[in-house]
Amino acid sequence: MKLTPRLQAIAELIPQGSVVADIGTDHAYLPVYLLLEQIIQKAVATDINQAPLEQAQETIAAFNCHQRIDLRLGDGLQILKEEDEVDTVVIAGLGGRTIASILTEGSADLRTLKRIILQPMNETGFLRQFLAENGFALIHETLVLESKHLYEIILATPGQEIERDPFRISLGPRLLEKQPPLLPLLLKEKIRKLRIIYYNLQQAKKEDVSEMICEVERQLHCLQEVLASATQGANAD
Ligand SMILES: C[S@@+](CC[C@H](N)C(=O)[O-])C[C@H]1O[C@@H](n2cnc3c(N)ncnc32)[C@H](O)[C@@H]1O
Repeated sequence: MKLTPRLQAIAELIPQGSVVADIGTDHAYLPVYLLLEQIIQKAVATDINQAPLEQAQETIAAFNCHQRIDLRLGDGLQILKEEDEVDTVVIAGLGGRTIASILTEGSADLRTLKRIILQPMNETGFLRQFLAENGFALIHETLVLESKHLYEIILATPGQEIERDPFRISLGPRLLEKQPPLLPLLLKEKIRKLRIIYYNLQQAKKEDVSEMICEVERQLHCLQEVLASATQGANAD
């Protein structure tokens, strides 16, 4: 089985012998791949919707993995049990705020996990802030380009995040440290989106948005600075 680059990048963050919960598994491609490659011992694959769960069921049957993938219908982490012995939670392909609420509402004790691997589709800054404020350290971050879409993948563990600056936390402290080749593209995309917000705020006539405009100007300025240093670094390599 061949995974897409995004799912492959997630798979590469999972150590040998892990017990994984794939929350929002959809087709169950990730847990099936991890099992076929003998990377994991077993997995719990969950989805809140019946249709994706049936698709997952088909993949699991096609690759004869039922004995070691426990498929469950349910919301977020709430259907995990202590006896599942899950040490790694993956939540990929959902919005950043949805991921944060899944982590908040889960009955599972997140402190007992060895790692959580997240791939938010949006609101990545919000999610990083949430993790840092809720006792998670951002251990590793990576970027993947797939079909012209740039994905951010975050590996967090229970612990204290060392970065203190909220702006750097929301951008991705490990990305800023490591300066991967795709970082300038990510920063340009963030600047493009922020400029649209800036333009819309300037057009807003009724409300007093001057404070918001100042804040967006400040963020644009900071992003331009980070982009300049990332581009310089890339040119120097
Ligand atoms: C876009 S798919 C992502 C599938 C796969 N994780 C991936 O990254 O390719 C999102 C899946 O998450 C499921 N989902 C959404 N909210 C959920 C929740 N609170 N708990 C479990 N599954 C959820 C959806 O039904 C859908 O199948």
